[in-house]
Amino acid sequence: MTEQLSLNIANCFADRIGSTHGLTRAGFDAAQGRMADLTDRLAAMNKAGETRWRSLCHDPLRSEHLAAVRRIVADTNAHFESRSKGKRCKHLIVLGIGGSALGNIALQAALKEHVHNLTPCTHRVGPRLYVLDNVDPHFVGDLMRHLEIKDPGLTHTAVNVISKSGETAETAAQYMIFRDWLKSNLGDAYRKHIIAITDPSRGTMRSIVDDEGYATLPVPDGVGGRFSVLSPVGLFSAAMCGIDIDALLAGAAAMDRRCQSRSLNDNPAATLAWLLMEFTTRGKGNHVMMPYCNALYSLADWYRQLWAESLGKRLDLAGREVFAGPTPIKALGTTDQHSQVQLYREGPNDKVFAFVDLARWERDVPIPSTLNVDAISYLHGHTLGQLIAAEKRATEYALVESERPNVTITLPRLSAEHVGAFIQLWEVITAYAGLILNINAYDQPAVETGKIATFGLMGRAGFEQWRSKVEERLAPRGKG
Ligand code: PA5
Repeated sequence: MTEQLSLNIANCFADRIGSTHGLTRAGFDAAQGRMADLTDRLAAMNKAGETRWRSLCHDPLRSEHLAAVRRIVADTNAHFESRSKGKRCKHLIVLGIGGSALGNIALQAALKEHVHNLTPCTHRVGPRLYVLDNVDPHFVGDLMRHLEIKDPGLTHTAVNVISKSGETAETAAQYMIFRDWLKSNLGDAYRKHIIAITDPSRGTMRSIVDDEGYATLPVPDGVGGRFSVLSPVGLFSAAMCGIDIDALLAGAAAMDRRCQSRSLNDNPAATLAWLLMEFTTRGKGNHVMMPYCNALYSLADWYRQLWAESLGKRLDLAGREVFAGPTPIKALGTTDQHSQVQLYREGPNDKVFAFVDLARWERDVPIPSTLNVDAISYLHGHTLGQLIAAEKRATEYALVESERPNVTITLPRLSAEHVGAFIQLWEVITAYAGLILNINAYDQPAVETGKIATFGLMGRAGFEQWRSKVEERLAPRGKG
């Protein structure tokens, strides 16, 4: 890869945003040694197999997964073609939530479908992708109704259920509904329309798929949901839809090599982790990711989960209560200039901004010079690409004027390589941030309470006491 993601951090320093809010170059230089130690620690953890997610883009896992995913994609496509010559899978529904959904949505939005899944079948390489990351009955019911109209009999519809555990209530419910729906439309052939991605050897979903005989791909051992997008979890739906998964992993691997550098200047993950954590300790614990590109907006959603679930922790590694964790916020340029920037400039100075932009647009839209109205004729002869770049620059300037720190991550263009690099970058930043905060970045104990209380409320045997606990805790008290 000749071009690479670039990072501009100049707007974080005192010479730009003043000494009250800006960091010093001396502070950055002084952090070199400490961050190099953390780079060594991460390398040691990786060597010990403690950060398996980091190896997804390197061999042997990379080749193993690419081959397995390609095989299942080929089998799935062959099945659809064999049923009727020239026909193909036109609709692919991903069932999953959290780490089993956000990466799939982000890849699709970034690399395939910029305008709400509207491209007709005749103009798209793979199927239309729907990711059901909720159990909202309108959302799910409307999709089923839509597909019954678009694909009567569901002969062109496949379902990809993703759950490491198989016990997640949302995914389990979706799975039951879609299995039943496919079966009542397709008879026993429904089995060929389901591809499951789950733990390779254990868990509820594993035993279901073994009984049902679906094609399966692994959620690799030791890889948590929010770090799994570069595993078959994200790769299968991406490959089905025609995304270059080889390039995605190559981009991630190239970024990972940059993030192994002991020099802070050459290591974008160490640099960003240091900056963001340094600002967090100085009262700027709200971290806004603001892409200036609609296609990259869902990556900000993916980042929100990564940052929030990994870093939001009550206890540090010594068991002390620390209530750590910056708050990730997503915004979209230019849209949120007209919605959030008033707060960002004049509200509390408690935020750091990460702009994400593109150096080059694959397609640009010229603004015609046919309407001659003085107040808007300055736009004549420009393009939307020029306008969005100017707006981003202007917002950067406006934030600097208000002494608000901000960085810019620039993707050379919208490609699988650069999106892969962006994903690996943020995963490694998260690992550094976990070490700086001295917390476990790989568990999510606080999510469990809501999960098991739901089991109790939904009548799962063995969880009855949770129903009473919920009722008791939420019982009306006094007049309030
Ligand atoms: O990051 C995580 O670990 C979570 O978001 C999980 O991905 C999510 O809860 C779904 O879990 P599972 O894949 O077991 O259904």
